[in-house]
Amino acid sequence: MELPNSEKTVLMDGKKISAQILEECETSVKKLADRGIIPGLAVVLVGENPASKVYVRSKRQTCEKLGIRSFAHDLPADTTEEQLLELIGQLNADPHVHGILVQMPLPPHISEQRILNAISPDKDVDGFHPVNTGKLLNGEDCFVPCTPAGCQELLIRSGFSPRGKHVVIVGRSNIVGKPLAALLVQKSPCADATVTICHSRTRNLPEIARQADILIAAIGVPNFITPDMVRDGAVVVDVGINRVPDPGHPKGYRLVGDVDFQAVLPKVAAITPVPGGVGPMTIAMLMKNTLRAAEKQSHA
Ligand code: GUN
Repeated sequence: MELPNSEKTVLMDGKKISAQILEECETSVKKLADRGIIPGLAVVLVGENPASKVYVRSKRQTCEKLGIRSFAHDLPADTTEEQLLELIGQLNADPHVHGILVQMPLPPHISEQRILNAISPDKDVDGFHPVNTGKLLNGEDCFVPCTPAGCQELLIRSGFSPRGKHVVIVGRSNIVGKPLAALLVQKSPCADATVTICHSRTRNLPEIARQADILIAAIGVPNFITPDMVRDGAVVVDVGINRVPDPGHPKGYRLVGDVDFQAVLPKVAAITPVPGGVGPMTIAMLMKNTLRAAEKQSHA
């Protein structure tokens, strides 16, 4: 990757920062081991979505590296909603399983919300259960969704606190946009931002995006954020991981973010790369949530 051309431009390094967090996690795993507790995460994959397979493999591998027990459940694409609900019931009842993650998206014949609602809120390390999303909105202690938590942590550990800043989020998904807005608007020294959410129906999106001190792209469209949407000196966080066909690449595709990185680079104070930005942070926060779940359940 080409490095920023201005000496002052910061590349927010999610790989490096996530490695620090994983080291902290290793210490927590050892402390739990001293008390005879082996944390366990069940990762459920339904179907053959190629991107989901990559994410799930990465989550499982990180578990094993840290000494977290990984319970793999790979189910065929024609699994019924009832079968998946049955599995979640078993995982909810299993004392070795402290966290449950069902990789999204699910095949269209399964209601994602019905599945997420069935996961015990105490094992909901994705933070997608309505009890946790409700608590997040209320500013109560809860499991925070991993990608939003990763964006917040990446900004703070890179020296770009969102406090008092205008954060514009482009994208309103339940996985990123909405919970990230709820998180960054919290009354907290790590948040305290003024938050605007834009989406596909927003009028004058470039004009609003240009008002951002911190611009977060989570819309799932390759290279959507162009220089006309970015204020000089803005901090840009790119949540997008999009596969674009590339016959010149051994895999036949390459990964690009939601931000036109090379075009935007000369304008920004700081930016995240793709890959190596938010992606590894998501996994680190998942590990943190899993350890927290194990810790909480050990005192239950
Ligand atoms: N699909 C994309 N991101 C996520 C995530 O953070 N958790 C789950 N379960 N599925 C996803």
